[in-house]
Amino acid sequence: MISKAITRVFGSKHDRDLKRLQPLVDAINALEPELESLSDDQLRARTGEARSRLDQGADLDDLLAPAFATVREASRRTLGMRHYDVQLLGGIVLHQGKIAEMKTGEGKTLVATLPVYLNALAGQGAHVVTVNDYLARRDAEWMGQIYRFLGLDVGVVQHGLTDRERQQAYGAEITYGTNNELGFDYLRDNMKFTLGSMVQRGHHFAIVDEVDSILIDEARTPLIISGPSEQSTEKYTLVNRIIPKLERGEELRDGDRKYTTGDFICDEKTHTANLTDEGAAKVEKLLGIGNLYEMENMDVLHAVNQGLRAHHLYRRDVEYLMENGQVVIVDEFTGRKMPADAGPTACTRRSRQRKACGSNARTRPWPRSRSRTTSACTRSWPA
Ligand SMILES: Nc1ncnc2c1ncn2[C@@H]1O[C@H](COP(=O)(O)OP(=O)(O)OP(=O)(O)O)[C@@H](O)[C@H]1O
Ligand SMILES: [Mg+2]
Repeated sequence: MISKAITRVFGSKHDRDLKRLQPLVDAINALEPELESLSDDQLRARTGEARSRLDQGADLDDLLAPAFATVREASRRTLGMRHYDVQLLGGIVLHQGKIAEMKTGEGKTLVATLPVYLNALAGQGAHVVTVNDYLARRDAEWMGQIYRFLGLDVGVVQHGLTDRERQQAYGAEITYGTNNELGFDYLRDNMKFTLGSMVQRGHHFAIVDEVDSILIDEARTPLIISGPSEQSTEKYTLVNRIIPKLERGEELRDGDRKYTTGDFICDEKTHTANLTDEGAAKVEKLLGIGNLYEMENMDVLHAVNQGLRAHHLYRRDVEYLMENGQVVIVDEFTGRKMPADAGPTACTRRSRQRKACGSNARTRPWPRSRSRTTSACTRSWPA
């Protein structure tokens, strides 16, 4: 009751947050008449001017209003779309590294151009992460008209590109690509032997579209990169023989007490299999080893868990195919085959249930991101 009354007088936190951003929106609006009167060349020259100010020590935040106003005017001239005030607010929030939740059709693609242009001015690259190749290409071509008009080049990282093409795309001032491509490029780069063969050039700033989908749903299943193992595969053959002797059980509940039956439990949702206490004892006996959970037996435990997953969770022609005597993983999310190529094999397993998201989140999608990464989501729950 009291809190309701306080909210009525002072407004909710949301209202106050928006109010705090209003002066910036006003500053952007105030620049509009001046920018409208500039020629195309004069408008384009503002990119160079902003960069000079950065070189002289100005802060990106100081450049926000003029940069956003420049993008709005360029968008009006190239795409015939003038960013609405609410889109400016979304852009400011994303630049601040926060979540901006906007509904379907509110124009999140256009919102992203504001902080992307501003952060790309620093010359260290800006990434826009999308959920699929189609959106990466569409948005890069569509929004690329604004960036190119303002003198910035745009790259798209797509499935099937060579390393050379990837280097070019990452070398652009603005790079669009899917979380899969960007994530795997990061992993592959970590396996390269020379700096010159790496395709990415650092992680300065990123906006993530459909962030719920990318950072929650899809993030549940890791990107796995595999290469030829130096270890003998004998252990797997040995473990493979005992897997059929293990009995699948269930997790049951008796009031508050949880208990398990059988030798192992499968969790279809997370796509994992785990031994029960009885199962662990049985494996130890069948393999004639001591405590399975001792450090020295960790690789055996790993092989058992993988064996259980292979036998009980991975179905041929659904999760994987056999081609020329080789296993080819099927990306459940895209349905695309992930064949072994010249480099390490990129394999990914995706949550089967694909959801769209309704909010944006700040995060570091790469484990060793060197600098700031901002995320944004630009999709709401589908109708
Ligand atoms: N400022 C604007 N002026 C005119 N049209 C606009 C503006 N902003 C967005 N639009 C139009 O709104 C439509 C939806 O934009 P967009 O696809 O970016 O939405 P979205 O928020 O990303 O939606 P979804 O959640 O479906 O991905 C597009 O056709 C776009 O051209
Ligand atoms: Mg969208």
